[in-house]
Amino acid sequence: MRQMALVAFLQAQNCTNFAASWRHPLARTDSWSPDYYRHIAKVLEAGKFDVGFFDDRLSMPDMYGRDHAHTVQYGIRCVKMDPVTILSMMGAATTHLGLGATYSTTYYEPFHVARVFATLDLMTGGRAAWNVVTSVNDGEAANMGKDHHLEHDLRYDRADEFMEIVLGHWNSWEEDAIVQDKAKGLFAHPDKVHRIDYQGKFLKSRGPFTVPRSAQGHPVVIQAGSSGRGRRFAAEWGELIFVHYRDLASGKALYAEQKAMVEKAGRDPENFRIATLLHPVVAETRAEAEDKKALIDTLPLEIDSLSLLSEALNFDFATKGMDEPFTDEEIAGISGMQAMRDRVLQVSGKKNPTPRDFIQATGRGYMREATVGSPKDIADKMEEWFTERACDGFVIGATHVPGAYEDFVNLVVPELQKRGIFRKDYTGPTLRHHLGLPIPSAHR
Ligand SMILES: Cc1cc2nc3c(=O)[nH]c(=O)nc-3n(C[C@H](O)[C@H](O)[C@H](O)COP(=O)(O)O)c2cc1C
Repeated sequence: MRQMALVAFLQAQNCTNFAASWRHPLARTDSWSPDYYRHIAKVLEAGKFDVGFFDDRLSMPDMYGRDHAHTVQYGIRCVKMDPVTILSMMGAATTHLGLGATYSTTYYEPFHVARVFATLDLMTGGRAAWNVVTSVNDGEAANMGKDHHLEHDLRYDRADEFMEIVLGHWNSWEEDAIVQDKAKGLFAHPDKVHRIDYQGKFLKSRGPFTVPRSAQGHPVVIQAGSSGRGRRFAAEWGELIFVHYRDLASGKALYAEQKAMVEKAGRDPENFRIATLLHPVVAETRAEAEDKKALIDTLPLEIDSLSLLSEALNFDFATKGMDEPFTDEEIAGISGMQAMRDRVLQVSGKKNPTPRDFIQATGRGYMREATVGSPKDIADKMEEWFTERACDGFVIGATHVPGAYEDFVNLVVPELQKRGIFRKDYTGPTLRHHLGLPIPSAHR
């Protein structure tokens, strides 16, 4: 039977992607301690999750008012640690859990990214995954020594070259390159380790790469672009993609469309998994879950939304009154997440929405789209989406940590397992085994 994929949407920061989560009475207050991440890793592995995955951003959200004071004061994602370092520790605390992290193609060098993830892959027995992002805003540019963030589509053109280089390096040691024959003095076959000699419009890299191949061939490529250009990029390069489909009907249509895009890119759509975002609030009974949700709804502040919107759209919302319409130029000039901007235009039905419309349409900073209910309620929805092919799995966001993951693992996972749509145990050692993805060949 087809099995769903479960991904935990983790943050190496003081809150989850729900910024107010740190104020939750049950949220742990040591999110910069190793024990916090080791604990999460063990909870996820007990729940047989495919992968624990960290998002990333290379700056504090200080686009709003061009100042970080509010970010620090209200704890709006003001801590952001390097996710791969944390994954190494989580890998040491587990044996099977897949380990994913986000690194930016705009601000890192391809050789560096290839080496970091290939090393993580070896050190964890083939459990690594890289989430490819092109980054979103000027704050990241400023931290990484640039004046402005690159224009949207150009970032993706450049990212295409980045991928050629990373995959080129990852495939440059053939499977049987290493011999280690001490008697003959042969470490590895010179003709089985290749240079890539890549020269593109934006990037170049020579090789040969300095990290051998892992048990799963190379790390799994994750992608989450949602604009038209972003989705094409995902179709070209992604193996596991993250989406935010909002209802079953549009989810089914977008799922079918994305799989067709993969086929059009010359790839096998069966080797491509789509996981959609889900924020479960679960308890033994529906009434208890609703009480939990009522508490969660008391946590967000308006400043959380304004700050997060400024960051995601690369636009300073402090320059506008709450009910002041954006001008045509301001709308056209938004260079951050284009799909989010387009959704606001569509949902509000306005050509010139106001900041209030942006908050309304996106729900940024709030937990409006949570799925609230008993284990059966949550599993019913997941089963329906999965069997009706609106997705191959779910990216589970947390209202607070570690409680939201503990609840999910204790209450929802057994219900999914009972229905035969989620594994009772891992069936292989590597992340590709969990996801049912083939191990790529390096042979030329
Ligand atoms: C589950 C999930 C995780 C994401 N993680 C990140 C992230 O870590 N960093 C980031 O910049 N964008 C992240 N995104 C956003 C997308 O990767 C992408 O940046 C965004 O959709 C903008 O790209 P677009 O202009 O193609 O829509 C995430 C999206 C989803 C659904």
